[in-house]
Amino acid sequence: MPPRFHWTTFDVTDLLPEHWQQDAAGTVPSADFREFPRTPILSREAAHVPHISRGRVHANQVRSILPWLHRSYRGVFLDLAQEACAEQVVPARDDRYGVVLNIQRGTSMRFECHIDSNPLTGLLFCTDHLAGSGGELVVAHDPAAADIESVERSCSVIRPHAGHLIFFDARRHPHYARPLAVESDVRIVAVMNFYTASFPESTRPAGLNRHLYGTD
Ligand SMILES: [Fe+2]
Repeated sequence: MPPRFHWTTFDVTDLLPEHWQQDAAGTVPSADFREFPRTPILSREAAHVPHISRGRVHANQVRSILPWLHRSYRGVFLDLAQEACAEQVVPARDDRYGVVLNIQRGTSMRFECHIDSNPLTGLLFCTDHLAGSGGELVVAHDPAAADIESVERSCSVIRPHAGHLIFFDARRHPHYARPLAVESDVRIVAVMNFYTASFPESTRPAGLNRHLYGTD
């Protein structure tokens, strides 16, 4: 069994610009909403699930629309990532996957059940979700969980709080984001990839970039 799943939370509200939540919400119309095919190697979806509907604000869009987020990823958030990890932490050199936004709008979207390829992930929750309203991050305790039903059987459930930045290692803990319960609701989370000396960016699985971006 891998180490018991755990995460570190920082309330970073006072490190963010005054209108950060409105800025993040303002990206929703330009998000790439579609059915994303299951991710090779990393997917932990049931065999009958070919794709999952969700939205993505790509890294190049983050850089131009939310420059404070792009900066924080390599600045104050990196400093906090370092506090959460015993090893030296570095941000991704490849700008395509350093920091992106995942968006869920309405009740038909969720985030794919998968494991991470990077040793440290940071999530900045940009929206609040009350108990019972969906949108929770659900992380399996069983590394062999291979569909959302198995994940739900024994899991840690993290409810998004806007302004909370969490860090975790989920290379051996399948996880996904539950759908929202209300059709008018929107869930926004910034996702940051970090690497370490013992698990550097060069370990990113071959073929993942080609799948996601069409080039290596
Ligand atoms: Fe993940």
